Amino acid sequence: MKKLVIHGGKPLKGEININGAKNSIVALIPAAILANSPVVLEGVPEIQDVYSLLEILADFNVATDFRDNVLTIDPTHMASIPMPHGKIQSLRASYYFMGALLSKFGEGVIGLPGGCFLGPRPIDQHLKAFDALGAQVDDEFGVVSLTTPNGLHGSRIYMDVVSVGATINAILASVRAQGRTVIENAALEPEIIDLVTLLNKMGANIRGAGTNVIRIEGVDELKGVTHSIIPDRIEAGTYISAAVAMGQGVKINNVIYEHVESFIAKLDEMGARLEIGEDYIYVHPSPELEMINIKTLPYPGFATDLQQPITPLLTKAKGTGTITDTIYPQRVNHIPELNRMGASIKVDGDIIRLQGESKLSGAPVKASDLRAGACLVIAGLMAEGETVITGVDNILRGYANIVSKLQAVGADIEMIEED
Ligand code: EPU
Repeated sequence: MKKLVIHGGKPLKGEININGAKNSIVALIPAAILANSPVVLEGVPEIQDVYSLLEILADFNVATDFRDNVLTIDPTHMASIPMPHGKIQSLRASYYFMGALLSKFGEGVIGLPGGCFLGPRPIDQHLKAFDALGAQVDDEFGVVSLTTPNGLHGSRIYMDVVSVGATINAILASVRAQGRTVIENAALEPEIIDLVTLLNKMGANIRGAGTNVIRIEGVDELKGVTHSIIPDRIEAGTYISAAVAMGQGVKINNVIYEHVESFIAKLDEMGARLEIGEDYIYVHPSPELEMINIKTLPYPGFATDLQQPITPLLTKAKGTGTITDTIYPQRVNHIPELNRMGASIKVDGDIIRLQGESKLSGAPVKASDLRAGACLVIAGLMAEGETVITGVDNILRGYANIVSKLQAVGADIEMIEED
């Protein structure tokens, strides 16, 4: 069992480089199988979700080579293999193989995905999109079986909720369908733009990514290309939070400011001192922080994925505040753990109520999902004494080299492995 051991209270100073975006690469990898020759992806983070996808690709007989953050995917000998159980359930984004297999083979059998427990995470909008494109969708006993007795045909798809995953799956499934598809009420996330950039380079004809109407003219063939992934805005927000909490001058490199604008706006409101550079954010030592209220929203609103990492900062702010996560109201796994460390936070229905100016002390805590884990790491850096975090695998799913990145700026953190 892996544990993170943190001795808190150490000032952080130096530079942290942000990796390619997790939520981009987990869509780009399934997209790459649509090519008829190898695809090269640059800036790929060394995270468990990537390794899990590579194992799934191997089972599909797709050859891969991953070194120095460059991933080559050769799908030329890919086989259509049913994946009802097993590795496919090791992460959420495996559901992108539904759209990608439909596109490539006109069929697929994929088990319902795993991933972090954040409350209910239905995939009705994904299945609705496949159905609209002419697929026959059979969703029984946790396995989705897809066939296309009459091929895939472009269609108008209106999303009842703004969903990153359903938008991506609808794009993947329609990119080679016959005719025009229009996705309305599409999600606007930068990761969707990144996916569309890759697909268009491969030969797709997709317009409107980054707006809520995406138009796709189906094409017959997609070819292999080289593509560099956008930086991870959630990883950036996580380290910015740590730097505001404990920093004595920390430069966060490889950040696209526009991708974290709503997050930075809330830190400004708290009184944090940030300098925005061309591709970096410099976090100056922050004076006293003011409490704020946060409401998470689809992009470009405040990201639900940064709700947990910013919470430790709020424990030291002056006053009382609330967090309302409108995307995942049950994303509260971090709260009891923070309270164990001395925070004063209540979950009141769908509202998280915070009492600021708490002093955190080290404690044994459990990272029960990825961003809860990031939150506990930051809390551990802030706390007096020793924090021991279990559930580390959840953190490694999405944060590459988190220990060495934090050690490099002066944190006292190490990973230990015990039987
Ligand atoms: N929803 C439905 N029906 C659907 C799909 C979604 O009701 O068919 C609802 C969800 O329950 C949720 C909302 O729509 O309330 C938005 O969910 P979305 O589909 O956008 O989430 P996702 O695609 O499953 C991605 C990220 C998550 C991130 C959310 C929201 C990936 C692999 N995951 O999930 O990232 O929280 O968007 O921004 O891209 C993380 O990185 O820690 C993480 C959980």
